[in-house]
Amino acid sequence: MRTSWWLLGVALAAPPEPVTTAPLAPSLHQAMAERLRIVSQAREAVIAGNMEGVHDAARALERVPAPPTRPEWADFVVDLQLFTTAARGATSVAEAADAVAAVTQACARCHERAAGGPDLTSSALPPVTWSSDVQMSRHAWAMSWLGLGLLKPNDDAWRRGAQQLADEPPPTTARSEEIVALEAQLRELGARAVTTQAGPDRSVVYAQLLTTCARCHMRREGE
Ligand code: HEC
Ligand code: HEC
Repeated sequence: MRTSWWLLGVALAAPPEPVTTAPLAPSLHQAMAERLRIVSQAREAVIAGNMEGVHDAARALERVPAPPTRPEWADFVVDLQLFTTAARGATSVAEAADAVAAVTQACARCHERAAGGPDLTSSALPPVTWSSDVQMSRHAWAMSWLGLGLLKPNDDAWRRGAQQLADEPPPTTARSEEIVALEAQLRELGARAVTTQAGPDRSVVYAQLLTTCARCHMRREGE
């Protein structure tokens, strides 16, 4: 019997049955929703250049009860632990970005195998189209969909975020050379992400994007 779950902002009405396995127990659904919350927090911490936030999120992820160890999932669980440890020990934003991307990719590999992962039609997720009434910046909206696209994994969600960054118009007002360069880099990485095929290449470009966001935000702090 399936109930509808509304946990931590993720609507979980009748998730699709996994192809290869029996459904997860309710407590495991709850643990997965908790993982999504923490991985989103880790992504936001990298974007803000907040290393302490990344370390805290990694520690929180380590405290979530381990995913079910079905024999065919064992490698994904090991990867998840490995990259979570890397995030906890990251000493630079680039390292933190790599680790958060690798964690997300580890989640994705198991979801792909188990036909699981977040419900991308939930009303709790950012709306499909960005508009100025969305209570988040265009950049945050784009990275949120890229993150969900990587995690599920799902091509439409990934490309939605990538295309938004690729299409961002260049600034019209006078800006410093560094700002113009960072914004151009976001557009280029966005365009590259649009055509990057699913798999490890996507986590590479995702990490580069996270690092680019952080470089601009950290620069402000230093001023
Ligand atoms: C070992 C395998 C495995 C790993 C690793 C894994 N998941 Fe999952 N996850 C699943 C399965 C299986 C489901 C779907 C189960 C179902 O529909 O019955 C799922 C579902 C989900 C859901 C939807 C929750 C629900 O109740 O339907 C979210 C959100 C989620 N995972 C997030 C994550 C995040 C974030 C990570 C990485 C930090 C992660 N998962 C790592 C196997 C895994
Ligand atoms: C070229 C510089 C630059 C880049 C690159 C950049 N940002 Fe920002 N971002 C800013 C500035 C400046 C602010 C502060 C704006 C303000 O306080 O109104 C900001 C603020 C934010 C905020 C906080 C908004 C709020 O309402 O408080 C978020 C979230 C954000 N950026 C996300 C991102 C993401 C995600 C990326 C990467 C895809 C990114 N930014 C890339 C310059 C940048």
